[in-house]
Amino acid sequence: MIRPGGGTAGAGFSSRAASASPPICTVRTIDFSGDTVCMATTTFQGLEVLISRQQIAERVIEMGEQITRDLKGEKLVMIGVLKGAAPFLADLARAIDADATFDFVAVKSYPKGSQTSSGAVQVIKDLDEPIEGKNVLIVEDILDTGLTLAYLRKIFLQQHPKSLRIATLLDKPSRRVEKIEADYVGFPIPNLFVIGYGMDFAERYRNLPDICLMPPDQPA
Ligand code: IMP
Ligand code: MG
Repeated sequence: MIRPGGGTAGAGFSSRAASASPPICTVRTIDFSGDTVCMATTTFQGLEVLISRQQIAERVIEMGEQITRDLKGEKLVMIGVLKGAAPFLADLARAIDADATFDFVAVKSYPKGSQTSSGAVQVIKDLDEPIEGKNVLIVEDILDTGLTLAYLRKIFLQQHPKSLRIATLLDKPSRRVEKIEADYVGFPIPNLFVIGYGMDFAERYRNLPDICLMPPDQPA
C-alpha cells in the first residue's frame, strides 16, 4: 500500500494541529478507497503538501532501479511529455543505469485555467528523432483520463519501436476514460487536482519542490 504524505490509515477527512511545529502546520488525512490513505500537510506557504520532495526522491530511485532491471543492459530512449514531466524525467533519468537518450513531445489537452480535460489531444511539438527499433519509455507527470497517453502510445506504435513502456509519477485511476495503464507508477492518488514538481495550474506552480493540493478558489 502506498500512502502519499506518509499517512496512516484513518477515518475520512480529519484535521488536527501538529504539535511543536513551526508556523501553523496541520495535517489532514484523505481516505479515498478503503485501503489507500493520503495525508496532506499544510505548510507555512499555505499549500497542502500531498507528497513531499523526500518521498518523491525515494520513489523515483525505486522506479529507476526497476526500469534498469527491466532493460537488461539495453539502450533506452526516454520521451518526456512537456512541460509537466520535465522535473520527473530529469530525476528518473539519473536513477536509471543505462545508455539513455532524451526526446520530448508537447501536447495540449487542457484549456488554460481549466481543471477538467477538454477531451482533445493535439501534438504541438513532435519527436526530434525516429524511434523505430528502439526501446522507448514515455515519461509523464500524471495519468488522468488517459487520453494523452493513449493517443501518444497509438502514434508511437505506428513507428514500430522495439518496446514501448510508460512511466508516470502519479496515477488517478478513478478518472480513467481510455483503457490504459502505466508500466511504472510512482504514486496512485485520488481525484484531487495537484500542483508542483512540474505540474501546473494555468502554467503556475511547476517549480514547487513538493506535490501540493490545488487550493480551492485560486484565481488563475
Ligand atoms: P489525461 O490526458 O487526462 O490523462 O491528462 C494528462 C495530463 O493532464 C497530465 O499530463 C497533466 O498535464 C494534466 N493533469 C491531469 N491531472 C492534473 C492535475 O491534477 N494537476 C495538473 N495537471 C493535471
Ligand atoms: Mg503532463
